[in-house]
Amino acid sequence: MELLDGKFVSEKLKEEIAKEAAEILSNTGRKPHLVAILVGNDGGSETYVASKMKNCEKVGFKSSLFRYDESVSEAELLAKIEEINQDGDVDGLIVQLPLPKHIDPEKVTEKIDFRKDVDGFHPVNLGRMMRNLPCFIPATPYGILLMLQEYKIETSGKHCVVVGRSNIVGSPMSILMARNASPGNCTVTLTHSKTKNLEELVRSADIVVAAIGRKNFITAPMVKDGAVIIDVGINRETSAATKSGYKLYGDVDFENVAPKASWITPVPGGVGLMTIIGLLKNTLASAQKTIYK
Ligand code: GUN
Repeated sequence: MELLDGKFVSEKLKEEIAKEAAEILSNTGRKPHLVAILVGNDGGSETYVASKMKNCEKVGFKSSLFRYDESVSEAELLAKIEEINQDGDVDGLIVQLPLPKHIDPEKVTEKIDFRKDVDGFHPVNLGRMMRNLPCFIPATPYGILLMLQEYKIETSGKHCVVVGRSNIVGSPMSILMARNASPGNCTVTLTHSKTKNLEELVRSADIVVAAIGRKNFITAPMVKDGAVIIDVGINRETSAATKSGYKLYGDVDFENVAPKASWITPVPGGVGLMTIIGLLKNTLASAQKTIYK
């Protein structure tokens, strides 16, 4: 078994991103600029957004955070998005999910100018991804592709089983792995909560992408010898043993699955760190206008 080391790869790619950001600054006098909107006080969202902002600073991007109380109206939020859409100094805009129940996430997602949608959630970007056209790819699937590329994992002709069909990870991942691209060219099975023979399907996979949001859901008997295991799970549990007060668990029972795998991502230290890279690369591409003019 070998580790797909998110820490190592993300640090290496951040160096490359920082070099390109420095070039933009010397050519144009401005830094790539990411704006994040955070509504409410969800513990996980607070951590993720803080990490996104911190990593922007690390690679020489400008970052701005707009925080709103949980009670903010949908209209106020949409007006702020419109203002940022119009701001020529902003390259990328993300609204951290989940949002409070009274705000429609679809309206928010569609309100973001697709040319600044560095999360890749807007229907224009998802549609273009489906058609294999230049677009912003959702950050987590993008990070996974970069990881597979970095370790030269062969995907062509392989059976990839994706577990979980979320808009953010499972659904786009299934499309990307099936595309005529590299990484890609897999035969893909997208499984979910209504799938009947899930264990059998996962056992037939050369590549497993676990994105179901349940601690240790993928167990050793479900995994074929030599499979590549990508664990997208970030399941937080409170813990008295850690400084932060919580501990992270993946969707894969790492201890028992790892000995059977050819490659596996750890949690933490795997896909989570690569998600940030996907976001930074999309923001960089937006500043460079390589996808949209
Ligand atoms: N919530 C969980 N993952 C994400 C993400 O990648 N982007 C945003 N905006 N919210 C999230």
